[in-house]
Amino acid sequence: MRKLHHLLEKNRRWAEGLVQKDPEHFHRLVRQQKPHYLWIGCSDSRVPANVIVDLPPGELFVHRNVANVVVHTDLNCLSVIQYAVEVLGVEHIIVCGHYGCGGVLAAIDGREHGLIDNWLRHIKDVYFRHRNVLDFLPDLSERADRLCELSVKQQVANVCHTTVVQNAWKAGRELVVHGWIYRLSDGIIRDLGVSVAAPAALPDIYRVEPDK
Ligand code: CO
Repeated sequence: MRKLHHLLEKNRRWAEGLVQKDPEHFHRLVRQQKPHYLWIGCSDSRVPANVIVDLPPGELFVHRNVANVVVHTDLNCLSVIQYAVEVLGVEHIIVCGHYGCGGVLAAIDGREHGLIDNWLRHIKDVYFRHRNVLDFLPDLSERADRLCELSVKQQVANVCHTTVVQNAWKAGRELVVHGWIYRLSDGIIRDLGVSVAAPAALPDIYRVEPDK
């Protein structure tokens, strides 16, 4: 059996390096985690959450899946949101997509990919909702990039529609949901300017307590 010695070795050197810089680092983390941010991002190996915002262990609570999709029946993602908001008390939820996302491309390349096509249906739905814009872009790569942005905006809305987030707002908690996008070619994150901090912006049908 081939073993992964090199990874275990890298891990040991990494832990030693951290302790050298900050001898109490791991002792502090054992006692508690108190991250201020929940990160919802893509599983893509080129978009490692902590690394691209340069945060050490303990600072970021993370959920990642293919194409950073937030689905209202996905118990995995919903449980992460609930734990982050209700137990850890995060103040920010960041949905971070990225240009060149293989999941988003696979949703619109017109080919079959197996099981994952069921997951990517959520991306297809975003495309369909915005087809009047997307259909008229000159090529697949421009359509995909625009769809990456539009999907992040949709996932931000989906986070806001959860009862967990709305109940936090109802309880007067400060909680902001952000939509960001990362560019693989330069490592820069752009804020899409779709942050939501209160239920007022949500359509009534999705609100836990619509205006009467
Ligand atoms: Co991706």
